[in-house]
Amino acid sequence: MKTNKEIVILGIESSCDDTSAAVMRNNFLLSNVVAGQAVHKAYGGVVPELASRAHQQNIIPVVDQAIRNAGLTLEEVDAVAFTRGPGLLGSLLVGVSFAKAFALARNIPMLEVNHLQGHVLAHFIREEGGATEQPAFPFLCLLVSGGNSQIILVRDYLDMEVIGQTIDDAAGEAFDKCAKVMGLPYPGGPLIDKLAKEGNPNAFIFSKPRIPGLDYSFSGLKTSFLYLLRDEVAKDPDFIVKNQADICASLQYTIIEILIQKLKLAARQTGIREIAVAGGVSANSGLRQALIETANRQHWKMFIPPFKFTTDNAAMIAMTGYYKYQKGEFATQDMVPFSRAIIG
Ligand code: KG4
Repeated sequence: MKTNKEIVILGIESSCDDTSAAVMRNNFLLSNVVAGQAVHKAYGGVVPELASRAHQQNIIPVVDQAIRNAGLTLEEVDAVAFTRGPGLLGSLLVGVSFAKAFALARNIPMLEVNHLQGHVLAHFIREEGGATEQPAFPFLCLLVSGGNSQIILVRDYLDMEVIGQTIDDAAGEAFDKCAKVMGLPYPGGPLIDKLAKEGNPNAFIFSKPRIPGLDYSFSGLKTSFLYLLRDEVAKDPDFIVKNQADICASLQYTIIEILIQKLKLAARQTGIREIAVAGGVSANSGLRQALIETANRQHWKMFIPPFKFTTDNAAMIAMTGYYKYQKGEFATQDMVPFSRAIIG
C-alpha cells in the first residue's frame, strides 16, 4: 500500500449493461470511459447472457482507453476498485475477474465497492470545471435507478442507512415497463422524459400508492397505467399514438409526485435539509425541475449530479474506492460478486 498522499485508482463498473473504467487521482477524476450495449434494444430489456459477453469484449479496450485518457500508464495505477454488486451476476463476474487479474499482475491492492454506495458518492467526484460544493453530512440521498428506489441517510462517506425503499418495482422500472406498454423501445425512461416535455401532466390520472412510512411502491401505478391504456385502446386503437405526449407527461408527473412526497416526509422526520439525488432516473428533467422547486419551497440545499454521473459509471466506483483505501478496507482474491445487496 502506498502511503504518500497521491493515490491513483482505476475504477471498474460492469454491474448491468454498461462497461466502464475510470481513473482518479485521490478524489479528482482524470478519465471516465463508458461503453454502452446496443445489443439489448431489440429485446426490450437487458439480456443477462448478452450483457456478460459484451462486457467480456469491452473490458480491455475500455480500461486501455481510460488509462490513456488519464495520460498515465498501467504502472502508475496504485489500486483497482471494482463493483462487487448488486447487479447481474454474469456481468459482475467480468469486472470482478478483470480487477482480480489486474491487481495480481501488478501486485496492487483491490477495493470492492457496493454499486449503490457508488451512486451516492458520485456527489464527491471533483473534476476540471466541475462543481465545488458537496453535500455536508448528514444528508439524505434519493437514489432512483432501474433497480432501486431508496431514501438513504448518509452519515459519512461509508456510513449509510436505507430509511425507505420500494416494496416492489423501482422508479426506473416503472418508467421502462410503462414505456413498453406504449410500444416504446428500451430503456423507456429517457424517451418518456423527452415526450413528456410536449404533454399535459394533468391529462390523465394514475393511482398513487398509500403505504405508510418512507417506503415506495410503483406496482399499483403500473397496473392503473396498463388498465387505462387497455380500456382507451379498446375504444380507439390509435389512442396511444394520438395522446403519446399527454400520457408520458401524466405518467412522469405521477412518478415524480410519489418520489417527492416521501422525500419531503423523510426530511421532516429527520430534520435534514441537505438533500441529494442519484441514480439513472435522476437524469429525468422533470424530476430535476421538481426537486429544485421543492428545495426552494422547503429551504433545502439540493445537490443534483451532472448527467454523466447519474447513470452507471466507473468514476463513482473509483471515488468510493478512494474512501475505502483511506480506511484500509481492501478486498481479497477470494471475494465473489453478489447479485443482491443493500447499503449498510
Ligand atoms: O442507474 P442506472 O443507469 O442503472 C441501474 O439501474 O443501476 O438507471 C437506469 C434507469 C433506467 O430505468 C432508465 O430508464 C432510467 O434510469 N432513466 C431515466 C432517464 N434516464 C435514465 N428515467 C427517466 N428519465 C430519464 N431521463
